[in-house]
Amino acid sequence: MRPSIDRPAWRMLLGYVKPHRRTVLFGGLFVLLGGLAAAAQPLAAKALVDRLGTGDSITGLLTLLIGLALAGAAIAMVGGYLLERAGESVVLVARNRLTRRLLSLRVPSVQRSEPGDLLSRFTSDTTLLREVCTNALVALVTGSVTSVVMVVMMGALDLVLFGVTLAVLLLVGLIAGAGMPMIERASRAAQVAVGETGARMERVLGAFRTVKAAGAETREIAAIERGTEDAWRAGVRSARWESVVHGSNTLAVQAAFLVVLGIGGARVTTGAMQLSTLVAFLLFLFYLTEPIGELLHAGSRLQIGLAAVRRLAEVEEMPAEFTGTTGPQPSTDGAALVFDEVRFRYGPELPEVLRGVSLEIPATGLTAFVGPSGAGKSTLFALLERFYEPSAGRILLDGRDLADWDLAGLRAGIGYVEQDAPLLSGTLRENLLYCRPDATEEDVRDAVTQARLDSLVDRLPDGLDTPVGHRGNFLSGGERQRVALARALIRRPRLLLLDEITSQLDAANELAIRDVVMTAAKTMTVLVVAHRLSTVTEADRIVVVDNGIVRAAGTHDELVGRDPLYAEFAATQLLTSGREE
Ligand SMILES: Nc1ncnc2c1ncn2[C@@H]1O[C@H](COP(=O)(O)OP(=O)(O)OP(=O)(O)O)[C@@H](O)[C@H]1O
Ligand SMILES: [Mg+2]
Repeated sequence: MRPSIDRPAWRMLLGYVKPHRRTVLFGGLFVLLGGLAAAAQPLAAKALVDRLGTGDSITGLLTLLIGLALAGAAIAMVGGYLLERAGESVVLVARNRLTRRLLSLRVPSVQRSEPGDLLSRFTSDTTLLREVCTNALVALVTGSVTSVVMVVMMGALDLVLFGVTLAVLLLVGLIAGAGMPMIERASRAAQVAVGETGARMERVLGAFRTVKAAGAETREIAAIERGTEDAWRAGVRSARWESVVHGSNTLAVQAAFLVVLGIGGARVTTGAMQLSTLVAFLLFLFYLTEPIGELLHAGSRLQIGLAAVRRLAEVEEMPAEFTGTTGPQPSTDGAALVFDEVRFRYGPELPEVLRGVSLEIPATGLTAFVGPSGAGKSTLFALLERFYEPSAGRILLDGRDLADWDLAGLRAGIGYVEQDAPLLSGTLRENLLYCRPDATEEDVRDAVTQARLDSLVDRLPDGLDTPVGHRGNFLSGGERQRVALARALIRRPRLLLLDEITSQLDAANELAIRDVVMTAAKTMTVLVVAHRLSTVTEADRIVVVDNGIVRAAGTHDELVGRDPLYAEFAATQLLTSGREE
């Protein structure tokens, strides 16, 4: 009967209930009163039977009996409503808490998790808390109190029958004690399986065209169905144990009923016991099924809730970003950057991706990063955004270690266009305003013109208010890149990080974007990663990154003569861009 003790999980569970403790308390009290009103009925019934024997009027007692029944039902109704309400509130609190937690997580923690699994914790596990935190906790208390009161009264009525009843209760307790941990385990397995199917489903929906193009539907269906069947099996296992536990209650009470009837009947015949006492005792026994059933139900719900809480706790334990506001407000000028022997690996077991990068970048001007695929260019940008921390060395912004800046302030000063330029589902305008929601209409129009998006906006049915689809998939690759650039420009950052933003542009657009970037570089620090060289050749400085180190840095003319890798790169790439122009 006793749920397995897991202090942190219990503490967390109670933490969810705490803000609603008054509603739960009142709800519980009402339910308890309703229960007690029911418990008083057998006594009234006994008095009634006694009265029948004496031939006195029974109107008063009958009224009392009806009154008790009505009042009990009404009070229990209000109590039930209050508890349900508190249950909904608990789910609300849990979801909001999880939302805040998820959004404060560090980039690597989220990247290591499956989004679909996190989503299932948000939707499905939180829902499981509803009953637990209110009904189950209250039922645990009310059920115990009502049962104890009834059992005590039964003891007062007749000790022999009481002994029989107690033995039966003990049996129920033993069966329940064995079943509860099983319910917890099965429920947790079911939720894990639900999370896994969620993750698999997300994988498919996130790459739907790839799945179709690969003809992988059947395989994916089979994989997802394996997961749903796992969840089903675990659910059924939990149901099996629940019905064993609950069934034991009914069975035991019925058995007790028969035994009590037999022994009690004999005792009444011999005159050792009054008939009214036997009637009252049997009624008690009859009514006892409910609080005990309630107790058992509460116990199994609690197990399910604890399983859910443990899954939520796993998210709570994932490391969050430090967002202390200690740093100064960022200035609006360009940002001077220094990389000082920066080393970095994505995981302790993974190879070093940056192997001692040292580099100075003055405020304002255009710096281009070139180098083979996998050299570590995008990683440098990710470190500037502090998605990851260097494992050794320092990065200084305006002479201050990045780690000392206020994180939000630091990021507010950066305009970052990721390599695959992901947009968010929503309208074009929402995407443009995403980095600076208070931008004016004029800012938006400026950025649209700069990023050469005018013709796109004119063409769209609702202009800026046209939805762009999940990750912007209603737009072409090049359009997405330009929207992402416009979004970064609207922010008016001091540091602009552009990761391959021209890779999907045609020559005309590329040239236009190059001009925008050159203009921006007059007032801010612009770092670009580019494989196409038309932007690169005009950069103030070019940094050649190869295999995690800075191989060479200088202007185009310097590097062509000095660095064979760059010379080769320039020869092949310039050829390409020359043909395009
Ligand atoms: N999240 C990650 N977890 C583990 N390894 C990663 C992660 N991101 C990148 N890497 C690895 O780090 C190395 C550098 O990646 P990075 O993205 O910085 O290369 P890049 O120079 O930008 O290449 P490209 O020109 O292809 O974009 C690669 O070997 C890559 O496999
Ligand atoms: Mg890259």
